[in-house]
Amino acid sequence: MKLGVCYYPEHWPEALWPDDARRMAELGIRHVRIGEFAWSRIEPSPGELHWDWLDRAVETLARAGLEVVMGTPTATPPKWLVDRHPGMLAVDAQGRERRFGSRRHYDFSSDAYLEESRRIVTLQAQRYGRHPAVTAWQTDNEYGCHDTVLSWSAQAAQRFRLWLRKRYGNIARLNEAWGNVFWSQEYRSFDEIDAPMLTVTESNPAHRFDFRRFASDEVVRFNRMQVEILREHAPGRPVSHNFMLFFTEFDHHKVAADLDFVGWDSYPLGALEMFWFSDEEKRRWLRTGHPDFAAFHHDLYRGMSRLPFWVMEQQPGPVNWAHWNPSPKDGMVRLWTWEAFAHGAGVVSYFRWRQAPFAQEQMHAGLNTPDNQLDAGGIEAAQVADELGRVPVVKSERAPVALVFDYEARWAIEAQPQGADFNALRLAFEWYSALRELALDVDIVSAQAPLEGYALVVVPTLPHLPDGFVARLRDSGAQVVLGPRCGSKVETLSIADGLPPGDLRTLMPIRVRRVESLRPGIAAPVVLGEHRGGCIRWREHVELGNDSVGEAQFADEFGGPAVVRCGSVRYLAGWFDAPTLSAVMHRAAVDAGLEPYALPAGVRIRQRGELIFLFNYGDEPATLPTESVDWLIGNDTVPAQGVCVARLRGD
Ligand code: GAL
Repeated sequence: MKLGVCYYPEHWPEALWPDDARRMAELGIRHVRIGEFAWSRIEPSPGELHWDWLDRAVETLARAGLEVVMGTPTATPPKWLVDRHPGMLAVDAQGRERRFGSRRHYDFSSDAYLEESRRIVTLQAQRYGRHPAVTAWQTDNEYGCHDTVLSWSAQAAQRFRLWLRKRYGNIARLNEAWGNVFWSQEYRSFDEIDAPMLTVTESNPAHRFDFRRFASDEVVRFNRMQVEILREHAPGRPVSHNFMLFFTEFDHHKVAADLDFVGWDSYPLGALEMFWFSDEEKRRWLRTGHPDFAAFHHDLYRGMSRLPFWVMEQQPGPVNWAHWNPSPKDGMVRLWTWEAFAHGAGVVSYFRWRQAPFAQEQMHAGLNTPDNQLDAGGIEAAQVADELGRVPVVKSERAPVALVFDYEARWAIEAQPQGADFNALRLAFEWYSALRELALDVDIVSAQAPLEGYALVVVPTLPHLPDGFVARLRDSGAQVVLGPRCGSKVETLSIADGLPPGDLRTLMPIRVRRVESLRPGIAAPVVLGEHRGGCIRWREHVELGNDSVGEAQFADEFGGPAVVRCGSVRYLAGWFDAPTLSAVMHRAAVDAGLEPYALPAGVRIRQRGELIFLFNYGDEPATLPTESVDWLIGNDTVPAQGVCVARLRGD
């Protein structure tokens, strides 16, 4: 459990560096990420390499006892490079070039850019790969930020055709799989296929779905190129990438498989403002962020990281990029930091050391103000540094609950939403929240992950069931909760044979006869025992088969089961409001032998090994029943914006 910071020596006079390094070390920082946007200073003109300043920056940090995370600079190719290879720019869905003048101006499918990246990463890795102070690497920066995964360029279309040829072998198979007989969309050869753009009306969803898969594989290819170079020239140094928040444009499980550890960038207030939360939630959590936002990502990224994951960038104060950018409440930077450790983070690294007084991010806070005074976030980081010695480092253990999250599921539903607000990521987040409000720890796992050992497995949605998934679910022996649209589609998006839930019928013998989406303000009433709730956004009309029973019913004009049970498996025939979802999760958790406990609003609890962490996002102090623990920080009353840490007493 260590602290880090993002630092841009190229933004500051060199005379300031030694003092920066000394103050970082004094504050308790151990890891400093540098370099990821510095290409124009490393190579101001083609082939003219200026490593001297970066050498001195690394030495300055090393002399202060700091370890360097070196970022490869490929997120910001310099102007001369773009002018040399104009075809490296990505193209938007309207066919317009995305030009130089900000960042991430490149196309993952550009071979010219791949080669330029290979060249600069190799030179950088040769220079710093074995440097004793450079102890970890980051590839590029935030793949996909600013909508940069998809490109509708000629080169992307060309590589897409190759990708399709490899996947389908012959064009007849593709025509069949996509259903191209519909509207005479049939192709005679792969060469005739374009990227799905500028069509008169909706393009074929199977076409778009494959284009998403292809684009995701292009990110994997680009990242793998860099990882291979780093493995060769920086032996023994772990390689990472900083993933984003609420971001699903590529398959993170596949990129993570090539990395040693995963980093992610945590901006709780920016995320609250920019995503689906209601106005009421935006007001309520304005200065704290949603209580499940950071934890959701910690549990997601922990699940794909071989070594402990990092928070590579932690919000330290107001950001610059949301519609409105409020200041966190006092205590939140400390709380977010401890919460990351509670969920298994190895390092929490703040973005950034000092606020830049110029260019795009001049309004973004740092640990220090532009005039170099420690800011509120810096003071809280120092507090955490002081507290760290009081809490031992223990291994994260498997949680009792697994939540299955699949990137392709998200793309499948985006390709054919059928209801404007059916967002698979939001559904996963709401299911996660329901579990966390019941004090349950959760591992977020891929649809390929082993499931044995979990008491409860929940699958918010998974339209296409990957090979072996149904068997893994059955063999897990867990209580299972399946959400709407599970098993509804085949791999190429056609409706599952025999109707949804397709192959899940071996566990849950039902037939989803009809689905409907519901506009905002419309809810189908649901009766679950004593509970009266509602189904919003999405409702399914289900026919029961042998051994399946309705545990909850729709109380609308159509009636029928809202929750179906078959042995240890439940199926939810819709998108439930929060209280109804909570009631179902409570039942499933009890059936799984767990002890769900309704936490006070805004309070969260997490166990890491024998440590128990309490967090309070709310406005009032909260007292929790805790027995047989020794308090390391605080006690059983967790103040507003407070953190308490206890160790379970051995028997
Ligand atoms: C991240 C990015 C950083 C910086 C930061 C500002 O998305 O990786 O470079 O832009 O946001 O919040």
